[in-house]
Amino acid sequence: MDWGLKNRLTNIIKPGTGRTVMLAVDHGYFLGPTTGLEDIKATTEPLLEYADTLMLTRGALRNCVSPEIDVPIVLRVSGGTSVLQDDLSNEELTVSMQDALRLNVSGVALSIFVGAENEKQTLANMATLIDEAEDFGIPVLAVTAVGKDMVRDARYIGLATRIAGEMGAHIVKTYYCDGFEKVVRSSLVPVVIAGGKKIEEKDALELAYNAIQAGAIGVDMGRNIFQSVAPVAMIRAVREVVHNDEKPDKAYDLFNTLKNAKG
Ligand code: 5RP
Repeated sequence: MDWGLKNRLTNIIKPGTGRTVMLAVDHGYFLGPTTGLEDIKATTEPLLEYADTLMLTRGALRNCVSPEIDVPIVLRVSGGTSVLQDDLSNEELTVSMQDALRLNVSGVALSIFVGAENEKQTLANMATLIDEAEDFGIPVLAVTAVGKDMVRDARYIGLATRIAGEMGAHIVKTYYCDGFEKVVRSSLVPVVIAGGKKIEEKDALELAYNAIQAGAIGVDMGRNIFQSVAPVAMIRAVREVVHNDEKPDKAYDLFNTLKNAKG
């Protein structure tokens, strides 16, 4: 592995713990101004000091994030279908590698839709992206998007995760499921979990805990942080679970303490 690629991976996965808390605010690429991200700048600014990595689109980065921040960026570089379509899998690559380099990113991310109508196209997107990104030492994070008809079980998640690694992705972002140890064990590369739809804070902390204990190296979490009643308290509690193996009930106590703290 070349030095640049390793160095960028180190920006994303913290060497102290070998884990990462990625903050995902890329949802607008197909959802538009989703709840909590109407004003990306206002939402992300207080969270940045607790995020190991910020995942977002080119437009959000340029318009809503100061170039003076020192949080590594993972840039979403796939899209092309909005939530108005029944099938979300019709994605293309949306950012050139030159622009990713100009934006000084630590990684690029795209979705793959295994089992969906455009499975082949999205896997081909990934192959192209990996070839182009590796030329410049940029790691690729593959997001295993799950189509409406797919069952989120270990068999399916394991299949999509393994395919991403086989094709050369450097990190896989996927969904937690029962039997997640099997998914992690058969993955060729480190796995992080998405948070998914907003759930109770206690449940989201438990989800993160279970994923970490099953072998995930972190979370790439969006809605369960920025849609929380107390986003800063939530990301800090998530950090404890990810970096310090804190138990969910203790992390939830911390969340409540921080939420209720004055100032
Ligand atoms: C969709 C995505 C998201 O836009 C996002 O990153 C998911 O994060 P969360 O589920 O935690 O809100 O990757 O495929």
